[in-house]
Amino acid sequence: MEPVKPHVVCIPLPAQGPINPILKLAKLLHFKGFRITFVHTDFNYHRLLESRGLDSLQGSPDFRFETIIDGLPSTNPRGIQDLPDLCLTIPVEGLRSFWELIMKLKDVPPITSIISDGVMSFTLEVADEFGIPEMVLFTPSACSMLGYLHYEDLKERGYFPLKDASQLSNGYLDTDMDWIPAMKGVGLREFPTFIRTTNPNDTMFNYNLQSVNNATKAAAVILNTFDDLEHQVLDAIKTKLTNLYTIGPLSLLHRQLCPTNLDSMGSNLWEEDTQCLSWLDEREPCSVVYVNFGSLITVTPQKLRDFAWELADSKYPFLWVIRADLVNGGGEDILSEEFLAAISDRGVLVGWCPQERVLSHPSVGGFLTHCGWNSTMESVCEGVPLICWPFFADQPMNCFYCCREWGIGMEMDSDVNREKVEILARELMEGMKGHCLRVKAMDWKKKAEAATTPGGSSYINFDNIVMQLKQE
Ligand code: UDX
Repeated sequence: MEPVKPHVVCIPLPAQGPINPILKLAKLLHFKGFRITFVHTDFNYHRLLESRGLDSLQGSPDFRFETIIDGLPSTNPRGIQDLPDLCLTIPVEGLRSFWELIMKLKDVPPITSIISDGVMSFTLEVADEFGIPEMVLFTPSACSMLGYLHYEDLKERGYFPLKDASQLSNGYLDTDMDWIPAMKGVGLREFPTFIRTTNPNDTMFNYNLQSVNNATKAAAVILNTFDDLEHQVLDAIKTKLTNLYTIGPLSLLHRQLCPTNLDSMGSNLWEEDTQCLSWLDEREPCSVVYVNFGSLITVTPQKLRDFAWELADSKYPFLWVIRADLVNGGGEDILSEEFLAAISDRGVLVGWCPQERVLSHPSVGGFLTHCGWNSTMESVCEGVPLICWPFFADQPMNCFYCCREWGIGMEMDSDVNREKVEILARELMEGMKGHCLRVKAMDWKKKAEAATTPGGSSYINFDNIVMQLKQE
């Protein structure tokens, strides 16, 4: 009789950014001989059915999908931007639903471990009650995590919570935090935006802070980064969280170990437009600016229109992802005929694209990004330099490190104007600075590859996770 496989339950925060790396880790573990139960919310399960069809949810007998409820009322339109509402309901209703799921699954075959998103830390309670060891994977950057880990020090020194809203604009946020190890040159401005609040009862702030604090209760903490990239930050984190595994970039580790394992099983909540790849095929090498603001950001119709013209003025071919829900209160005709005519010979707009394939395309010469951590890592994997336009969460910190530490990006401040986008795009695509960023980006790409091939830090750490999970 075949031995029973160890059974791992994986559960991401129900948003695109976290689902992608946790699904990759689940596929890697499946490849290493684990049975996997992957938990979506009901809502996302149905979105995946719509966007990718049943194939993407039918893995193999050893890779199953289950669902929990997110607790949002059925009247809630549940755009995925409703994170604050979700952070109120999921630790209560999601917790109950997860408890019932573990109760249902626990013996067939026995669950040997849970791997949860670090910001679904309520699952630790369930794990504890059932006596199942749990590891947590934080999907944002290590540098932003370090910000949360220092929150108590910042509070004690009187930096946070902010005294009043004027501190957001009067230069106070420029204060250097040099006294924090590994944060030389970092200002309060770079700290995760949820910390920069005047309201200590703010939902997102408390939800995130509590999640990071709960990490000490987990059997191990996993990060989608690699040692070379964030080594000082990681050393600082290890003084607080001892059992830390860095296994990133997960995209590369996955490509290295099992690129075709469970291929049809995807995670995109929006339907992918793959035709843009054929359009890229027809462009010159390194000539296209790729523009994408991830899965959560929204902008006003006016901001979108302004930005659209800024991009058009830059004169470079571009591929721009405009998610169906990117524009707050916007309709389909938000971009004028005049704009569409002006870009017809060199601009392509899509609702969602296969980002990793786009970034690896030889025609792409630069990425104008919001600096979400997945986008940042995926860019590092392909050696593509960045124009960084951070909005919220960990993005300002990621932007700081991309521009000041790793030398792969140029920052665009939030009051973009036509001229600035044009200047930055020109500099990135043709200037000396752009050339230096590209060289650096290729350097990091090589280091990322080294980390994820046999003998590399992420490769070894992943083997150690597998060993720990098999012993549990
Ligand atoms: C969110 C937060 O915004 C981010 O700051 C945090 O680091 C993670 O959670 P999100 O806005 O979705 O993430 O951005 P990002 O982290 O970059 O993740 C987006 C993911 O969707 C990437 O894996 C990207 O490859 C994928 N994607 C995005 C596509 O496949 N196609 C698209 O058109 C857009």
